[in-house]
Amino acid sequence: MTTIKEQYTRYPYLSYDVVDDEFAPNAIKLHEPFLTKKEINHYIKKDINDILSVGFGGGAEVIKLALEFPDARITAIEISKFSCAILKKRLKKYNIDNVDIQLKSLYKVKGSYDFITCAGVLHHLQNPDKGLNKLKSVLKDDGGILLMLYGKVGRTAVYQMQELMRTVNYPGNKDFPEQIERFKKIFKKLPRTNWLKRSEMLIADYKVNDAGIVDEFLNVQDEAYTITDFHNFVNKVGFKVLEYSEEFRKKYYHDIGIKLDKSISEVDKQYINELFFGDITKHTAYIIKDGNI
Ligand SMILES: C[S@@+](CC[C@H](N)C(=O)[O-])C[C@H]1O[C@@H](n2cnc3c(N)ncnc32)[C@H](O)[C@@H]1O
Repeated sequence: MTTIKEQYTRYPYLSYDVVDDEFAPNAIKLHEPFLTKKEINHYIKKDINDILSVGFGGGAEVIKLALEFPDARITAIEISKFSCAILKKRLKKYNIDNVDIQLKSLYKVKGSYDFITCAGVLHHLQNPDKGLNKLKSVLKDDGGILLMLYGKVGRTAVYQMQELMRTVNYPGNKDFPEQIERFKKIFKKLPRTNWLKRSEMLIADYKVNDAGIVDEFLNVQDEAYTITDFHNFVNKVGFKVLEYSEEFRKKYYHDIGIKLDKSISEVDKQYINELFFGDITKHTAYIIKDGNI
């Protein structure tokens, strides 16, 4: 069976460097709207010296962090050697020299960090609890993590398409190039009624390149979360959600105009909003250790 490491080594996620680095060393088109110094200082703490980026893929988050925190020490780890090579090249374009790129799994990470970014990674592990526990062990007690996990409701089309691809690719011993060709053939013929066609503005990576197709529809390990699952997951490992990142923040707190029973928890109200809007494709939040107030 193909492992996640083989998958992301053959199809590194997701090289935007050609378009995104058009104005480098200025980050005008950098594909990373979050991770500002202002927000991290506000939500986590002022004193940010050691930063860890876990599973950086195309590397935009690392570039953004390095530009926001030029005096910090940044460790960037990946299991895909091609992602590492892409980031190395990109760092040069931005004249960044405070990043240490390491080809290794998050399970092998060492050190002690003020801030960790882990976006789109834990849901690709066989045991996400173990992954988050590992990050907890290298996070300073007053530090924090920006965690992103896939949103179950917003990615409805992705999981239908994954199911379709798994079923047409049965038995599952076809190599990626053949599976990608099959996806492309099917995609050309998809009727307007298909869920992916109906949510084209939500799901977009597959339009970038073959790596996007693999990541979205042929992924060997991919688990999505409702916002309730997200809270349960982080609470179980001894974290709490401090605040959502800006992209969808307002949606979680929306008032849909119906009087809800008092027994419905705050998180379940947010889940109602997740279902109400339908377009939250990822849950991104600052999380901190339980005892950290
Ligand atoms: C979907 S991509 C997300 C990339 C980037 N963080 C972003 O948000 O655009 C997931 C990345 O996690 C990496 N990854 C998966 N398992 C990992 C592990 N155990 N340790 C480190 N990186 C891992 C993959 O190689 C891949 O590049």
